[in-house]
Amino acid sequence: MKIFIDTADLQEIKEIASWGILDGVTTNPTLLAKSGRSFQEVIDTIFDLVDGPISLEVLSEKSDEMIKEAKGIVAKIPQKYQKNIAIKIPMTPEGLKAVKTLCKDGIKTNVTLIFSANQALLAAKAGATFVSPFIGRLDDNGQEGMKIIEEIMEIFCNYDIETEVIVASIRHPIHVIDAARLGADIATIPPDVIRKMIKHPLTDAGIKSFLKDWEKVKK
Ligand code: E4P
Repeated sequence: MKIFIDTADLQEIKEIASWGILDGVTTNPTLLAKSGRSFQEVIDTIFDLVDGPISLEVLSEKSDEMIKEAKGIVAKIPQKYQKNIAIKIPMTPEGLKAVKTLCKDGIKTNVTLIFSANQALLAAKAGATFVSPFIGRLDDNGQEGMKIIEEIMEIFCNYDIETEVIVASIRHPIHVIDAARLGADIATIPPDVIRKMIKHPLTDAGIKSFLKDWEKVKK
């Protein structure tokens, strides 16, 4: 399973990319606002940090405006990085129209705010490169989010659909294990959850006791 980082915090992306575990990045307007940096500042740096798909969201609501906005974003990125841009488009009829056109024009798309297998199927039919089902928000709403990942994986597998499934809105490490066990293509994970995935108290205790014992034998 590929691991994307779900943040616009450039320091976190740089640090975690240095561990050699990152395959891409997803951002959204909320994450950009949290980063305290402008959109321009983020796009000026982010492509140097991770060589993989970087999702950037459009905010227009009409398909022709979404397409214009998407092309405007692509135009701002140096040519050598353009292959890594994935334009995040919301799951609406206007969004699907935009996906269809952008797909024809060779621009990658990530259809976001997916909350059902049917939405994922329609986004894939329109030509989405990625679909992002938001499982944490479904859990928050009293539904079992991971259930739709199971359904989407089954449907995409039945029909050899090439659209990749990004498990999004991940809240904790168990979500990551569940996503991997279901064969999801990608999990996009907030930095704090990635840090929790590394940690185990027995690892820390083991290092401590090895260091203590080493003191006894080193000359
Ligand atoms: C995905 O691309 C989104 O940025 C993200 O996973 C949303 O997660 P949230 O529900 O924690 O805001």
